[in-house]
Amino acid sequence: MSIPTPLKRISDFESLGFGMFIHFGLYSLLGKGEWVMNREKIDKEEYRKLVDRFSLEKFNAREWVRTAKGAGMKYMVLTSRHHDGFSLYDTKGLNTYDAPHSPYGKDIIREFVDACNEEGIVPFFYHTTLDWDRDDFYGDFPKYLEYLRESVKIVCTEYGKIGGLWFDGNWSRKDVDWEEDKLYALIRKYQPEAMIINNTGLTARGSTGNPEIDSVTFEQGRPSARNLDGAPKYLAAEMCQTMNLHWGCGNSDFMTKSLPELIETLCYCRRFGVNYLLNVGPLGDGSLDTLQTALLSKIGEWISYTGDGIYKGRPFGVTCADNAKDFALRSDEKINIYVHGLAVTGIANVTDDDGVTGWRAYTGITERIKSIKWTDNGEELSFEQNGDTLRVHCTGYPYGRNLVVRCAECELE
Ligand code: GLC
Repeated sequence: MSIPTPLKRISDFESLGFGMFIHFGLYSLLGKGEWVMNREKIDKEEYRKLVDRFSLEKFNAREWVRTAKGAGMKYMVLTSRHHDGFSLYDTKGLNTYDAPHSPYGKDIIREFVDACNEEGIVPFFYHTTLDWDRDDFYGDFPKYLEYLRESVKIVCTEYGKIGGLWFDGNWSRKDVDWEEDKLYALIRKYQPEAMIINNTGLTARGSTGNPEIDSVTFEQGRPSARNLDGAPKYLAAEMCQTMNLHWGCGNSDFMTKSLPELIETLCYCRRFGVNYLLNVGPLGDGSLDTLQTALLSKIGEWISYTGDGIYKGRPFGVTCADNAKDFALRSDEKINIYVHGLAVTGIANVTDDDGVTGWRAYTGITERIKSIKWTDNGEELSFEQNGDTLRVHCTGYPYGRNLVVRCAECELE
């Protein structure tokens, strides 16, 4: 058995590594998550009135994209349409339930894609497959599917080259034929290089589906290693996660994750070669949440200290008996070791610090190593190699610094 070779679009996607998910739509005005229409049983006519308030005084696509870029993210997935049925793009007469027909008056997807292209970020579209607004979703389902395909055709043909489509909603009806082949054929026709992703839902983590799918999904949790040995196709994997407990803006949700948790989760994803798609829920006026942007800029700072191994590096079967969280990534010219739980030098008198310093043994490295240094301060580290075991003397952080996870870059002989 062997691992299939990834298609170029799939390996390119894996190298993007870290992306921003954005849940934004009419629901953002209510600040109670993207499911508010369903949860609070708001009827369609009532919910549609939100359109009159969709004026987005503080929306600036460029700012969203720059925030993602500053966080070290390489791609963005924006909700072109969510379950409420409202489209951020111009539906070209399919209906008038879209951003151009709101007081804002413009095609948000156009602005988003333009900003991405200017900043070198790859744009993706989240597109719902279920629809709470359309009668034919539970009525004339074949007619609904036609509408869905027409909708997807628009986003595939109007905005130039896109990174991919991220579908969500097939889990809502198990009793129908979603005619996935037709939908995916349309994408292959108009966007041959686009990734096709279909969220399998909260419970079906990492499961595969239609053969056209290019990546499996994990939602809201830590991913696990995958065994691609003998698989018919090499699939990428992606884990999407909320920064608090809501996708769409939850304006009194205080459960924002901590900076160490976000950094460790990014590491944990990359350890298994999984992309990390971290979500933000902008406010109803189009501005980003200040707590979320602050955390994102700190993650960007962390990446600037630890280098590009987080994108380029591939999983590499290395284990560490001294700290099970530690792992290594391998890129063409180097091996990066990600070291957790290090102490700050000389901090003991000042604060509680449960980190440690000293020798750690990494098993599974057979290449001969020439030198090892911390990426953040260039300090050279002592090491010993014996068979496939590499022992590294992990010195503490200089006083004033603690990166949660520190990167030791090994230069190969
Ligand atoms: C779930 C939610 C949906 C959200 C998605 C993101 O499927 O139902 O609202 O957009 O997760 O992965």
